[in-house]
Amino acid sequence: MLRIAVMVSGGGTNLQAIIDGVKDGTITNTEIAAVISNNADAYALTRAKENGITAMCISPKSYESRDAFNDALLEEVNKLNVDLIVLAGFLVRIPEAMVHQYSHRIINIHPSLIPSFCGVGYYGLRVHEAALKKGVKVTGATVHYVDEGMDTGEIIFQKAVEVKDGDTPQTLQRRVMEEAEWKLLPAAINMIANKQEYK
Ligand code: GAR
Repeated sequence: MLRIAVMVSGGGTNLQAIIDGVKDGTITNTEIAAVISNNADAYALTRAKENGITAMCISPKSYESRDAFNDALLEEVNKLNVDLIVLAGFLVRIPEAMVHQYSHRIINIHPSLIPSFCGVGYYGLRVHEAALKKGVKVTGATVHYVDEGMDTGEIIFQKAVEVKDGDTPQTLQRRVMEEAEWKLLPAAINMIANKQEYK
């Protein structure tokens, strides 16, 4: 059984896709040990609690320095004894010590086709704003392993999504979530849990 921790910052629709996937059998051999948010107000924490999953907030605001926060985060994650850390809309940079300790055991969902529209400053709606500004006709989502860089780790899955005339950042974000993110992230977890290729 793959024990996972899901790290979130906001609404948690990707977390919901994971919870639903575990329930409906899209994701097998997997147990969600805890949900960790850096933001106490994240609706994702409510989703976790409603589903009987341990929910915790570890906020940088509660610590004197970034180093102290990073140490606390790693300590809490270590206590959970998980096999995989899933970043599902977690908008805080993962401490280097954690990246090293959990090498190839942290995955992230990003709402573009990496290497487009990724790296520092590209997160959430901003990614879709940038895609629309550039005028791309196709965008999508990427699940990748997390390394020391920002959105630079080994790619696991990608899925393309069409940009339509009249799209706003919000409508594009929604389509990328529905057609790509909510499928790719559960599929990646299931693949890792069962060590099989994506079908
Ligand atoms: C998702 O679109 C996710 O891909 C993105 O934040 C959103 C979180 O939504 N992540 C990033 O931009 C990471 N760079 P959610 O809280 O509803 O899952």
